This record gives sequence, C-alpha cells and structure tokens, in this order.
Amino acid sequence: MFKKTPLAAGIAAVATIIFAGGCAVADAGKSGKVDYTAMTPHELAEYLIFEANGGGFNLAQEMQEGGTARERMQQDELQKACSIIGDGKPDAETLAAVRQAATESITYPEGGIQLGDWERGRVLAWSGFGYRVGHNYDDHNVREVGGTCYNCHQFATDRVGGNVGPSLTGYGKTRGTSEPILKYVYDMIYNPHTYFPCTHMPRFGSSGFLDEQSIADIMAYMFDPESPVNE
Ligand code: HEC
Repeated sequence: MFKKTPLAAGIAAVATIIFAGGCAVADAGKSGKVDYTAMTPHELAEYLIFEANGGGFNLAQEMQEGGTARERMQQDELQKACSIIGDGKPDAETLAAVRQAATESITYPEGGIQLGDWERGRVLAWSGFGYRVGHNYDDHNVREVGGTCYNCHQFATDRVGGNVGPSLTGYGKTRGTSEPILKYVYDMIYNPHTYFPCTHMPRFGSSGFLDEQSIADIMAYMFDPESPVNE
C-alpha cells in the first residue's frame, strides 16, 4: 500500500520528529476514514506525508527563509559526508574535515559569550516551533523559533525530556561557568560537529535556527543558579 523508497524512509524519520508530541494522533482522530491503529509508525508517517489532506505535504510551497520545502530535503555537504551507507562509519579523514568545517562556521557575539534570560530560554528549550515543513509551514511571524532541546535532552525535572542526547540536569551546578565551559556549550549549540563530528544534534547557530539572543537565553536556562535546571 505504501511505497517504500529511501527518500520516503528519510522523510519518515524527519516526520517522526516533526510529529512527536501527538499532533499526528490528534489529526488522525478527526478524519475517521483511515484505521491509523492498524498502521505501523512508519506507515502512519508515510500516510501523513504522501496521502493525508488530499495528497500529503505540499513540498512545492515557498518557505519563509527562501526556497521551497522540496529544496530543504536536499542534503548539504556535511549531511552527505556523514551519510555513509554500508558497514558504517565515516573514516577519520572525513570526520576531521567535518570537524574543521564546523569549527570555522561558528561566529561569536561581539561582547563575548553572555548568559541571557533563563525564563525565555526555558520556553525556547521546550518549544519545537520553527522551520517545520508539512501540510503548512511554521509562520515565524506568529511565534518565535524554539530549540526542540527537550526532544533529545532532560534538563530540569519539572518536565520529561528525551534520551537521544545525554541528560543535562544540574548542568551549571556541576560544570560551573568558567570561560571554557561557556565556550564549549555555545559551540555545541551553534554547531555540535565541532566536538562530535556527524552527531545527531542539529546545528542551531550555523543553520540560522537560533540567533545569538536565543542561544544566550537557552544557555542561561542551563547555567543560571535560579534556573530549575540547577535546583
Ligand atoms: C536530535 C537530538 C538533539 C537535539 C534536538 C538537541 N541535542 Fe544536544 N545532544 C544530542 C546528542 C546526541 C548529544 C551527544 C553528542 C553525541 O554523542 O553526538 C548532545 C550533546 C549536547 C551537549 C553536550 C553535553 C555534555 O555532556 O557536555 C549539550 C550542552 C547539548 N547537547 C545542548 C543542547 C541544547 C541546548 C539543545 C537545544 C538548543 C540541544 N542540545 C538539542 C542530541 C540533541
């Protein structure tokens, strides 16, 4: 029933992230025509992408940041280098090149790395809003772009986070706020391939998803002694 192509599988993986949080289930409940419960998660993702709402995602739609949704599916150089099919891992030379390109992609705030407003950072660390393609794209004029950090990390214990990445609970309390540690975390958020070449963590700064203020605020959420992360 569903065509299984590598592209479809790739998009499905993205969709799993996009729809994490229950939107797919809420949407599914409304139509009543298709038995979603009989589908595997993979089939459901493919259905939503290729068939739901009269033909699936509108990949021809113009994106706010320029280009079309379909163009967003093109791998960039780093993704190509890291997507090795076969027995496995990119070789040492590739990893070194990825690392160097990542290091060179980072720019620092004029006044140096600062901690901003942890309360705003908390909202941004939770939020998955921004740059999502689908039946409609996210409109950046209506809401600010979040970091989706909770999809992969646990921070404070007042909300459950994902476990794709390590738990960051008590981060500031245990690591301190020395210059090297602030630089490390800024770099990690800006472009984590600097330290973990071919990591699954997104490049929030070099991709333009988070600006300097948003990075400063999310860092405050991680480091400020008042933040629930450091309770
Ligand atoms: C798609 C999953 C994913 C998302 C989203 C994500 N991370 Fe990560 N993060 C990881 C992984 C995985 C690692 C571990 C590095 C590795 O092994 O590749 C990591 C590592 C880190 C580290 C280093 C941890 C340490 O022990 O020093 C920090 C800091 C960090 N992430 C912060 C963030 C922040 C802040 C956000 C949101 C702006 C975020 N991450 C979003 C997956 C993610």
